[in-house]
This record gives sequence, C-alpha cells and structure tokens, in this order.
Amino acid sequence: MILINSKNSELKNIVILATGGTIAGTGIAGKTTNYKAGNLDIKSLVDSVPSLDEIANISYQQIANVDSNDITIDHWLTLANRINEISKQSDVDGFVITHGTDTLEETAYFLDLTVKTNKPVIVTGAMRPSTATSADGPLNLYQSVALAANDLSKGQGCMVVFADGIYSGRNVQKVNTFKTNAFNSIDLGCLGYMRDNIPYFLNKSIKPHTVDTEFDIFGLKELPQVSIAYFNIDADPLIIDYLAQKSEGLVIAGAGCGTFSSAWIKKVKELETKGIPVVRSSRTGSGIILKDYAIDKSTNCIPGNTLAPSKARILLSLALTKTRDYSEIKRIFEEY
Ligand code: SIN
Repeated sequence: MILINSKNSELKNIVILATGGTIAGTGIAGKTTNYKAGNLDIKSLVDSVPSLDEIANISYQQIANVDSNDITIDHWLTLANRINEISKQSDVDGFVITHGTDTLEETAYFLDLTVKTNKPVIVTGAMRPSTATSADGPLNLYQSVALAANDLSKGQGCMVVFADGIYSGRNVQKVNTFKTNAFNSIDLGCLGYMRDNIPYFLNKSIKPHTVDTEFDIFGLKELPQVSIAYFNIDADPLIIDYLAQKSEGLVIAGAGCGTFSSAWIKKVKELETKGIPVVRSSRTGSGIILKDYAIDKSTNCIPGNTLAPSKARILLSLALTKTRDYSEIKRIFEEY
C-alpha cells in the first residue's frame, strides 16, 4: 500500500520506484566522469524536473540507492512484488523505475516477465550524473512519467524510455559506454519515439509479457542460480566445471551463432548428463539462434533465440522455477 498524491484530479497518478544509478549520481559540478552513482534521493530527483507536476501526480518510494552493478535478485523480487501489490490500488495508473544504466536492460526484462499488471511500467536512467552540464536524467524521467501516464502505454509490458526512444524490456540493450543515446534494440527496432511528453508508437512486441506470462515470483525468496560462460578462442573448459558447481543452469555466450570449441562441447555434454540445462546465446549482440542450427547434433543445447546472454540467463532462471524438462525449457525459449 502506498499513499497516493492525487492533487490534480485531471492528471494520472504515477508511482516512481527509485533504485539509484547515474540518474541519482552526484559529482564535480559540470563534469560527466568521476561521480558517485546512487547518491541523490528520489525526492531531490523529482524536485529537479521542471513541470513534472503538470503531466502527472507523482508519488514515490526509495527501494534502494545503489550503482546498478550492485542490484541483486533481492532487489528484483522486491521491485516486482511491490509493483504487483501497488498496482492493485485503483488510484494508481502507472509506474516509473529509476535505475542505473549498466544493468537496466536486465531489470527491465525481469519485470517484463514477472509483473502482473496491464498498467504501464517504464524503466529509465541517465548517462550523466545530476550535477553534469546537460544532465540527461531530468528529460528521461519527464518522458518516462509522460509515457506511464499515457493510455496508449497500457498493456505494452515493461518499456524503457531513453534519449527520446521507447524500447521493449525484452529487446532493449545498452549499446554505448558513455554517450547519452546509449540504448537501442539493434535489428529489432524501437517501439516508438517521445517528443517532449507525447509518445509516438510505431511497433508492438508480440512476445508474451506481464499478465500473459506463466511466471509467478510471489513468495519466492530466491531464484535458481544460472551462470554465464563467455567463450573466446582457446577458452579454458574448466570454467564450465567451475560455474556448474554452483549453478542449476548455464548460459553460454558463444561466438557467432552461439558456437564454442570441441573441448567446451565435451563439457556441455557432461552437464547435460547431470541434468543441468545449457542455453546457447551469442556474444555478437544481434541475430537469432534457432533449433535447426545446432553446433553439434549430439548436444541438447537450448537455442537462446534472440536473447542476449544476460537476458537468456533471466529466462532460464525463471523457467527453472517451473520445470526441469528440456523440451519444456526449449518451448519457453521459443515463446518468450
Ligand atoms: C549504474 O549503472 O548504476 C552506473 C552507470 C549508469 O547509471 O549509467
């Protein structure tokens, strides 16, 4: 339950859940480097955005205030449960999550698969700290609130707003280390554009999300551990043994179409005989991995479809909350 500010009855009521990141970062006035992420509280952040109260009534909660490299599964479960609980309030119209950009795409996909509401959920952040010249946080936050308050956003799953673009939580990727236009969906395109506070939708994701997924995190205290093994020329196959010790599933960030060496194929087969599912994804950043293009027909690797390794890890972990059956996990990777 959250007490909602509904000052202006003509405006939508939007809840901001803050987790930190560069959008809440502070440093030397004017500079974009050497700052501390997750330093400003959500009240100060909201107060720094001109005219925000003209597009929505804002209520907020500070869930965490961390660099997004320190986001944990606990934060994910808290966020998803909080959204699921608050979204039942009839006086709440939508959500904005403020987040560090480094792992933003992972949180967005996790929420896309686990929140159970048709109300808009928008994730955003910033590449420049709040104290930089031309900080990008205020506009990203303004546009995210505007998108969350727009009727067109209902039932579109968890979306990301960044630098005037609207992206699906499933397909969005961070594609630049420092520029403000740091997010993209590469081949799969954006969902639309923001111009000031108006969204222009152009595409729709056809993948199941939010209320249409089979994943229910209610009551879960943790998620099955899934690790990612990054393949490169001559990569030590013992990495796989090491990761497998603590993992219930493994994702391989393979070369090209999710490929890896004969030494790794041997290790993967060993995992499969132990019942540890292995997903093949690609380190290339785009493209698709399909079942009819197996690297070695004798392995039973699950094709990662278009998911980046970090997102394949999320889907495998959620799949393992439901089943250990290989063909079921394959079905889940084809569907989501
Ligand atoms: C972070 O991910 O928390 C730091 C970097 C950023 O937000 O851009």
